[in-house]
Amino acid sequence: MTHPLFTPTRLGDIEIANRIALAPLTRNRADEATGVPSPLAVEYYAQRASGGLLITEASQISPRAKGYAMTPGIYTPQQVEGWKAITSAVHEKGSKIVIQLWHVGRIAHSDLLPGGEPPLSSAGVRANMQTFLKDKGFVPTSTPRALRTDEIPGIVDDYARAAERAMEAGFDGVEIHAANGYLIDQFLKDGINRRDDAYGGSVENRARLLGEVVDAVTGAIPAGRVGIRLSPFSGANDLTDSDPMTTFAHAIGTHLAGRGMSYLHLVEGQTGGPRELAEGQSIAELRKLFDGAYMANNGYDRELAMKTVESGAADVIAFGRPYIANPDLPERLAADAPLEEGDRATYYGGGAEGYTDYPTLAQSKAA
Ligand SMILES: Cc1cc2nc3c(=O)[nH]c(=O)nc-3n(C[C@H](O)[C@H](O)[C@H](O)COP(=O)(O)O)c2cc1C
Repeated sequence: MTHPLFTPTRLGDIEIANRIALAPLTRNRADEATGVPSPLAVEYYAQRASGGLLITEASQISPRAKGYAMTPGIYTPQQVEGWKAITSAVHEKGSKIVIQLWHVGRIAHSDLLPGGEPPLSSAGVRANMQTFLKDKGFVPTSTPRALRTDEIPGIVDDYARAAERAMEAGFDGVEIHAANGYLIDQFLKDGINRRDDAYGGSVENRARLLGEVVDAVTGAIPAGRVGIRLSPFSGANDLTDSDPMTTFAHAIGTHLAGRGMSYLHLVEGQTGGPRELAEGQSIAELRKLFDGAYMANNGYDRELAMKTVESGAADVIAFGRPYIANPDLPERLAADAPLEEGDRATYYGGGAEGYTDYPTLAQSKAA
């Protein structure tokens, strides 16, 4: 009998052939000047299209939303054309693809931003992190400037326009990136949000930007094509919350449930690290508050993925690192075949090496 991991399901308006998703993975191979995805990305995504759903690498919604060299954008006609080649190639192979909408907030360097201006965040607090510039390599992130209240509607609008561009580019939907310490998370988590306007202080205020972005994006494109990613318990990008259960129960219960969204996607535990949670923290409790499909991520292997889908705890499992070096990951999981280890040196930046040159199982057997 076919295991449920390999059977179809529906994420809102998006029907998918199996419960295996490609997690969003930044690979820094887009054109630095234009933010157009690399022509190599067509092949990269097509190679991974046996997964039911592909989530693209995070893609900036405006020039000011960028935080690293050579990440793609989704705000110009030229970028839309670049993405069209990718969505067509993926659709030709029978899979579905959504684009992850990204504003990095303070995780940026002013050299990457128009006019060399500082990054924007909820507060003027620098992240103790590094980013990457094409000419200078790794550099500390710049100290951000706190957004003025009257600047926030423009950013909310950028999310909606980017979602419209995504539909033009042939995507099946979008994933709002509200995880990993980027802009929306910089408002949600109290680690830095020290604002005294309607966007800071109480849980209600900290979740306001998230709610406005969800309203705007689901107003621009059908809600059943809008997913969202959160990382409640992760300290990624130097950001934590003092009471994540309360913060995220409010965010999910008030702003995400009951509106017919495509899916809720949680990074369970520390992004790319331990899955263990502190006492009183629970993914299952948060998941219960959302009435749509649930996508789980972080440190899943074959056994845990099968168990989790079989029990009904998650509808879909997103795989990140295992999918980098195993373009045919779904086939390998189905066959219980060994997985290759990816080369970390080629994760970020470069060309085909470590990107499109990992063989499928069939190719390595034939070689
Ligand atoms: C190279 C690399 C790039 C990543 N880029 C993104 C990204 O663009 N957006 C995002 O939400 N998470 C990103 N992540 C986090 C992954 O989506 C995922 O949460 C993490 O790798 C844990 O899942 P895994 O154990 O299946 O790899 C990235 C991780 C890696 C290793």
